[in-house]
Amino acid sequence: MIRINTVQHLKNHLNSFRNQGKSIGFVPTMGALHQGHISLINAAKSESDVVVCSIFVNPTQFNDLNDLAKYPRTIDVDSQLLEAAGCDILFSPEVAEMYSEAELELKRQKKEDKSWSEGKAVDFGSLAMVMEGAQRPGHFNGVAQVVSKLFRIVVPQKAFFGQKDFQQLAIIRSMVKQLDMPIEIIACPIVREANGLAMSSRNERLTKDEREQASAISRALFKVKDLYSIKNVEQLKALVENEINLVPQLELEYFDMVDAQTLQPLTSFSQAKSAVACIAVKIGHVRLIDNVLLF
Ligand code: PAF
Repeated sequence: MIRINTVQHLKNHLNSFRNQGKSIGFVPTMGALHQGHISLINAAKSESDVVVCSIFVNPTQFNDLNDLAKYPRTIDVDSQLLEAAGCDILFSPEVAEMYSEAELELKRQKKEDKSWSEGKAVDFGSLAMVMEGAQRPGHFNGVAQVVSKLFRIVVPQKAFFGQKDFQQLAIIRSMVKQLDMPIEIIACPIVREANGLAMSSRNERLTKDEREQASAISRALFKVKDLYSIKNVEQLKALVENEINLVPQLELEYFDMVDAQTLQPLTSFSQAKSAVACIAVKIGHVRLIDNVLLF
């Protein structure tokens, strides 16, 4: 595996692969890699000739500076994991390589600039107004900003994302469609710890006890999956609130059952062809999200 830090070096390297007719698979990450990320690398390897993984803790998608400062950074271990998984290129740029000072200043002033997509405005509409979008203002603009930059740099045929960030996937699919980017977005299943906790880089910040307490999150979601055909939306919401409240260390931020396409909350299951149950829970200072596809 080769590690590259600059955009120009990466572009040159990838051009030589492209000239040999090789296909490029891309896995964008923020590091602190776990088996969920490795499953994305494996999927990328099985569908592409060359696999690029980026590790970049993107400042523009954090609306909480403390969260950005505390985000785990484990580049040496990550690099070893990627090498062992058979990744070909690790792209790990510094912030100044990805953003001009002017772009960062806009973000600091919370002036969202939609011209980042080369003159084409991208509007996520109601997709970005619910759940994570409602709780973390500006988050998805930051995600789309960095992913569109990375896509333009790497120019992959396929890009691989985890389904744990269900809303992020919908946002990225929408961005690719609006910008006519010829990139296939591939969603990969959530990977879970033995106790059901969805793997996340943020789990690194949990103590052993907290990891156990946090397993109540997926337990609640799987109960919903078992019961949605015999209970209504209101009853299931009450059930999840109850399950989470049983663990005093957990604080429920939201739980919604949403249309899997539009992400709008359902009041009845007959409103959707496909539905997903999505949850965000705080444990101490760590915020965890998870979801389960119901039908
Ligand atoms: O899911 C993530 O790790 C990040 O949001 C992403 C897609 C790498 C953009 O920074």
